[in-house]
Amino acid sequence: MRALVYHGPGKKAWEEVPKPVVVDDTDAVVRVDAVTICGTDLHILKGDVPAVTDGRILGHEAVGTVESVGAGVKNVKVGDRVLVSCITACGACRYCREGSYGQCLGGGGWILGHKINGTQAEYVRVPFADTSTYQVPAGVSDEQILMLADILPTGYEVGVLNGTVRPGDVVAVVGAGPIGLSAMMGARLFSPAHVVAIDLADSRLDAAKQFGADIVINNGREDALAVVRDLTDGLGADVAIEAVGVPETFELATQLARPGGHIANIGVHGKPATLHLEDLWIRNVTITTGLVDTYSTPTLLRLAQGHQIEADRFVTHHFHLDQFEEAYDVFGRAADTGALKVVLTRA
Ligand SMILES: NC(=O)c1ccc[n+]([C@@H]2O[C@H](COP(=O)([O-])OP(=O)(O)OC[C@H]3O[C@@H](n4cnc5c(N)ncnc54)[C@H](O)[C@@H]3O)[C@@H](O)[C@H]2O)c1
Ligand SMILES: [Zn+2]
Ligand SMILES: [Zn+2]
Repeated sequence: MRALVYHGPGKKAWEEVPKPVVVDDTDAVVRVDAVTICGTDLHILKGDVPAVTDGRILGHEAVGTVESVGAGVKNVKVGDRVLVSCITACGACRYCREGSYGQCLGGGGWILGHKINGTQAEYVRVPFADTSTYQVPAGVSDEQILMLADILPTGYEVGVLNGTVRPGDVVAVVGAGPIGLSAMMGARLFSPAHVVAIDLADSRLDAAKQFGADIVINNGREDALAVVRDLTDGLGADVAIEAVGVPETFELATQLARPGGHIANIGVHGKPATLHLEDLWIRNVTITTGLVDTYSTPTLLRLAQGHQIEADRFVTHHFHLDQFEEAYDVFGRAADTGALKVVLTRA
């Protein structure tokens, strides 16, 4: 089969590799029907994730058809249409028993396209198939469900639910990439008074208007803190969500939250960010952060099936599986191409 293989910083190739087979009896081998690229894959290609070594097949998001299953797989059958999630769960360890699958101690967590071969391939081996795949509901497209493999649960769990968004809240989201937009879409489910999108790119702010933001701020030109304070009688946002991953935006998010408010960090930070406790200690704020667990995936599947979230809005570009080079190029130049999510399909 063919797969997108990482060959060290800056190097990747769509090349011939052995087709995966069932190794452990809890595995499934899934034929990849639709797959996408994540911002994290771009980080890997820059060499930022040293756990990914030469020869690894990239990718941690897919929708596909089950080809074969191990003898220990009970719920997943050959021919099933399944979502392959970015998080794999052993289902039995302490963290899995608490729904914190991202922290799995039994060999799961974020492993696809990281510690083991991933989904950017014609076929993928999925460990712990019963607890790491989800049946695709009837009447929902592959590309819509594909958005539930990573970005939607991340924005919803690490942004909206950790931030405890409630009806009537003012929710400020710093960063309007796919993750920030997912947080905006998720926040809308709770009838907030306002969703404020903050980004440096006007193209991303235009997208934010389509994803539920009613106020957009370009913080390259405008003072985001002043605008949010004007909107809230000088108090600040009930919930500030950080969806960029650089020190400035984390500090901005902490300033945006009102006394008693919540700051939910989603961004993956590569550099130290300052926590200004000298200002924050008196403000009764709650700061949360974390890796997505994907415990919300069943809820999001029902919301997608009921058209309460329109996940296909993220898909800006389509490619065939053997066009990975072009797809990475378009996704990697999002500021010029307007790409949010690119989808590659076999058909
Ligand atoms: N916690 C998790 O489990 C998890 C999962 C997936 C992704 N992430 C992280 O979420 C973050 C966002 O991911 P994404 O795919 O949406 O990234 P992205 O790069 O597509 O979007 C980031 C956005 O931030 C904007 N931005 C950059 N600097 C800014 C600044 N100073 N002020 C305001 N806006 C600024 C950019 O214009 C861009 O629109 C990344 O750090 C990613 O690694 C976290
Ligand atoms: Zn990802
Ligand atoms: Zn586990």
